[in-house]
Order: sequence, then structure tokens, then C-alpha cells
Amino acid sequence: MAWFICVGILLLCSKSEQCTTGNASKLIEHTADHFFEKMQSGKMYFIYFGKQVNPTIGLFIEQLEKSADALEDYGISVAKVNCTNEHIAKYCTGEDLMKKVYLFRDGNVLKSFDTDTVFDVNAIVSHVLL
Ligand SMILES: *[C@@H]1O[C@H](CO)[C@@H](O)[C@H](O)[C@H]1NC(C)=O
Ligand SMILES: *[C@@H]1O[C@H](CO)[C@@H](O)[C@H](O)[C@H]1NC(C)=O
Repeated sequence: MAWFICVGILLLCSKSEQCTTGNASKLIEHTADHFFEKMQSGKMYFIYFGKQVNPTIGLFIEQLEKSADALEDYGISVAKVNCTNEHIAKYCTGEDLMKKVYLFRDGNVLKSFDTDTVFDVNAIVSHVLL
């Protein structure tokens, strides 16, 4: 009996290791043109608009990258727009530290979030899908 549990745990471990090795990021970085084009596609997008990165925002972007896989399963693409290089009226605001993330469908904002609210993968997924 104990032997079976051991093998089971070993199998689980090697399986989850496989899952975490392929770390190709699914986070897309949009240019302004790209953004407007994608907004016409009818897909859902979860997009962070940012400029400067402090440690908190850096962590958030890491979590955003990680959530891309999970959200893709629900047909939602995760993207980032760097407002230092691109200017998108309405979403690229004057602040240097931007803390807004938006969920879009058909070019409309369905919901907006503060980066403090969607601070990790679980929070991102549950807020976006709610
Ligand atoms: C995986 O992540 C590491 C460290 O973040 C990076 O250097 C490497 O290029 C990534 N691999 C892929 C396939 O994205
Ligand atoms: C935007 O780009 C600048 C450099 O072009 C970089 O320093 C900054 O970290 C980027 N911001 C985000 C949110 O990716």
C-alpha cells in the first residue's frame, strides 16, 4: 500500500515538473497599431498599460505572464502595452507608474482592475473570470 502511494507521488512530481519547464511566455506586447487591430477581432483581451516599472509592478508583470497560459484556456489573450513607446489615448495616462489593467471585448472595456487587486495568478484568473 505504502509502495503505491510512493509511486503515485513520484509520478505526480515528474508530471508537474514537465508542466513547469516549458516557460515560453504567452504575454504579447502590443504596439498601438497592433492594439487597434486586435480590438476589432472580437476576442477577449486582458491588457496592462504601463510605463515605468518598480519592484511591485515588476512582480505584477511576472504574474501577468504566468496567467497568460491559464487565461488562454478560457479564450482570453493577455497583453501588455508599453506607454513609454506607444501612446494610446484613454489608456496611456500621464502617470509614470500605471496601475490599471483592462479586460476588453470587441474593443469595449468590460472591466478594469487595479494591479493591487490582481496581484497574482489566482487573483488575476478569479477576477477576470468572475
Ligand atoms: C525561460 O525562462 C528563462 C529565465 O526567465 C529564460 O532565460 C528563458 O529564455 C526562458 N525560456 C523560454 C523558452 O522562454
Ligand atoms: C517600457 O519600455 C521602457 C524602455 O523602452 C522600459 O524601461 C520599461 O520598463 C517598459 N515598461 C513596461 C511596463 O514594460
